[in-house]
Parts: sequence; structure tokens; C-alpha cells
Amino acid sequence: MQNIHIVDHPLIHHSLTILRDKHTDTETFKHHAAIVSEILIMEATLDLPLAIKNIETPLEKMAGKKIDNSPVFVPVLRAGLSMLFSAREFLPWASVGFIGLERDEKTAVAREYYQNFPSNLKNRRVLILDPMLATGGSLIDTMTALQQKGANDVRAVCVVAAPEGVKAVNQKFPDLLIFAAAVDSHLNDMKYIVPGLGDFGDRYFGT
Ligand code: PRP
Ligand code: URA
Repeated sequence: MQNIHIVDHPLIHHSLTILRDKHTDTETFKHHAAIVSEILIMEATLDLPLAIKNIETPLEKMAGKKIDNSPVFVPVLRAGLSMLFSAREFLPWASVGFIGLERDEKTAVAREYYQNFPSNLKNRRVLILDPMLATGGSLIDTMTALQQKGANDVRAVCVVAAPEGVKAVNQKFPDLLIFAAAVDSHLNDMKYIVPGLGDFGDRYFGT
């Protein structure tokens, strides 16, 4: 069984269809990418620990709840930036770490070109943000780098995954829970997700 949580919501189905449509323009793509990201991030943060915060409403004292520990978002550059904007709408105080990975167009193997993580990752919820999980190479590299820096509570959030990538990530990191809007059919010869939505970064940034 694959360790992946598919977020099944009518708004996701609707927006994902618009993202997949090759006729969707950049502005519309950006709009629907944000909707899908927001719902996915809501789901991936459902069990964030809460602490009691004593407050006074205009009427009386009460015990409220607040998020106990600052989460960390790690967008995988470049396409992961699209999800960061949505994530920070909900949690503007969250820390952000960056990893820059780019797949070689011929081999589909990712090359790391940038890394900048917060120093204190231990016991903080880390959400890796990357819309496409294809071979799984980029997610495995990101997870490996985060673990080396002490992260021990990591989740991955992606829009579309390929079964091959999910399998590879599950084998390497069986405890890493992945949240996704869809797991598609397969990878093609170029290691693109089929049916997929094409190159997410190019479509989101209009390149
Ligand atoms: C894409 C995507 C993932 C990666 C997934 O990035 O955003 O990071 O490919 O593929 P994988 O699972 O086979 O590693 P890309 O390398 O195209 O860079 P970009 O984000 O700059 O467009
Ligand atoms: N990266 C993308 O943007 N799309 C794919 O289908 C695979 C990797």
C-alpha cells in the first residue's frame, strides 16, 4: 500500500481540471494553483499541535487555542514557490527554508543548486512544497537534506504525483506522509507525468 493521502474535494477536482487543460493561460493557472495549494495545505496541517492561550473576549475570559510551534515551509525551487504564497497566507509567521533543484532534461536527475534551511528544524512540522512528484528524485533529495539538518517531523505536499515516484519515496522514507490532489497513470519516456499537466514551473511562471 502506498503512503499517500489523496485530498478529495470538489474544489480540487474543479481546479485541477483547469490546471491540466493545455489551453489554460498563465493568469488562470496561477489562480487555480493557489486554490489547490490552499486546500492541500489545510489538510496537511489538520493535526498541528495546539496550546491553550488564555484571552479575554469583550465579554469574558476564556481559554483559546493557538498553534504551539512554528512550522517550516520548504518550497522546492522553482515550482514549489507557487505553493509557498498560499501557505504563508495561512501561516505568515512560519519559517521558510529553500532548496533549489533542477531536473536534467535528458536524464531527469535533479541537480541541487541552492540550499538555505532554518537552523532549528528538530521537532518542528516541516512541509515540503513541490507541485510535481514524478520520479521522486527531487523529493528524496529534499528529504535527505532535511534529515541531515535534524528535521524529524516532515510531510510532503504536492499537486500531482506519479505512482513510480510515490513508490520510490515510500521505499526510501516509509514514514514520510505525502499529501496530493491526484496520483496519475504513469511517467512517459521523458519522465513527465501522464496525463499530468505538463511543466508546472513553466506554466505557472509563464516561461
Ligand atoms: C519539477 C518539479 C519537481 C520535479 C519533480 O521541477 O517542480 O521539483 O520536477 O520531478 P522528480 O520527481 O522526477 O524529481 P523542475 O526540475 O522541472 O524545475 P522547476 O521547478 O525549476 O521547473
Ligand atoms: N515536472 C513537471 O513540472 N511536470 C512533470 O510532469 C514532471 C516533472
